[in-house]
Amino acid sequence: MASPVRPAGIVSIASHAPEKVLTNFDLEKMVDTSDEWIRTRTGIVERHIVADHECTSDLALEASRKAIARAQVSPDEIDLIIVATVTPDFPFPATACLVQERLGASRAGAFDLQAGCTGFIYALTVAAQFVSSGAMDTVLVIGADCLSRITDWTDRTTCVLFGDGAGAAVVRPVEAGRGLLAFDLGSDGSGSELLQVEVGGAKVPITQEMVAQKRQFISMSGNEVFRFAVRAMGESAERAMARCGITSEDVGCYIPHQANLRIIDSAAKRLHAPTDKVIVNVDKYGNTSCASIPLAFDEAVQDGRIKSGDIVVCVGFGAGLTWGSCVIQW
Ligand SMILES: CC(C)(COP(=O)(O)OP(=O)(O)OC[C@H]1O[C@@H](n2cnc3c(N)ncnc32)[C@H](O)[C@@H]1OP(=O)(O)O)[C@@H](O)C(=O)NCCC(=O)NCCS
Repeated sequence: MASPVRPAGIVSIASHAPEKVLTNFDLEKMVDTSDEWIRTRTGIVERHIVADHECTSDLALEASRKAIARAQVSPDEIDLIIVATVTPDFPFPATACLVQERLGASRAGAFDLQAGCTGFIYALTVAAQFVSSGAMDTVLVIGADCLSRITDWTDRTTCVLFGDGAGAAVVRPVEAGRGLLAFDLGSDGSGSELLQVEVGGAKVPITQEMVAQKRQFISMSGNEVFRFAVRAMGESAERAMARCGITSEDVGCYIPHQANLRIIDSAAKRLHAPTDKVIVNVDKYGNTSCASIPLAFDEAVQDGRIKSGDIVVCVGFGAGLTWGSCVIQW
């Protein structure tokens, strides 16, 4: 990989989850499931769910306000806002524009980026290119999703997995040797039907018949996605680490997409990552899609598990199919 014109990195990170908590015991009352099944198959204990009046831009805004305050950046210094999401407020306009207006980021360009649950890693990588090239100084990267809005709450095979949340990072120039050291992005559209929302786009418009069949919700081939995830996360992280010449011994911590504890454990084993170096909070949030990596990243920074100078490897996978990794010197 060619050396960047100037190093770019995350100078602050923050997150936000809606107040309402839905526990496995609550789900026991909604579908034929049990706390024991959910915990042993997924590692999830509870998840946060938006209230009726909340949506993706609200969560994104809260996380963004915290991130820019921590970076001591004023809204009018932001050059670009990228929102990674699979649950935008509207098909259009972009959720990023709604955040731009509410933040008062008067100079910022704004767009949404869709790469399934790998969205935050894609967005972070895109942001770093703008900053590295010298084209921009300050990019706000947000991963935000309300999967609860596209979940069939009568389908026990999916509804136990997902939650809502947001994370935001400010990307700026950083000192030499810091920031985004390497990345890996990939996709395989042949797996597009393994994880999708089939209805509501240009191909299959919403009709009463489609709604009656509940085809506007997430559908997933769980076992196939599981196998893909373990392989893709391991291979992608290995590629990104090789590109900047580091080995597992150099890594301070891994932040995997928080979809399922068994997927995280299997990928960690493949990467020879000791358990204490793998950040896990899927128990508290479930799979929050584009928010999952920044939610875990923020938690680990705030509680001191990530310290200045540590090498952090973020790795994710998602619908598309997509995968991606970033190696960051914090
Ligand atoms: C979904 C997932 C947790 C299912 O776990 P699993 O161990 O593969 O379980 P299976 O799908 O084989 O189902 C086993 C049994 O549990 C049942 N089951 C499924 N969901 C259940 C639930 N919530 N509660 C109780 N039983 C459930 C199934 O019906 C099946 O019953 P059967 O054997 O009588 O047919 C797992 O495949 C997974 O996590 N996949 C990846 C999903 C993912 O990460 N998606 C997002 C990507 S960004």
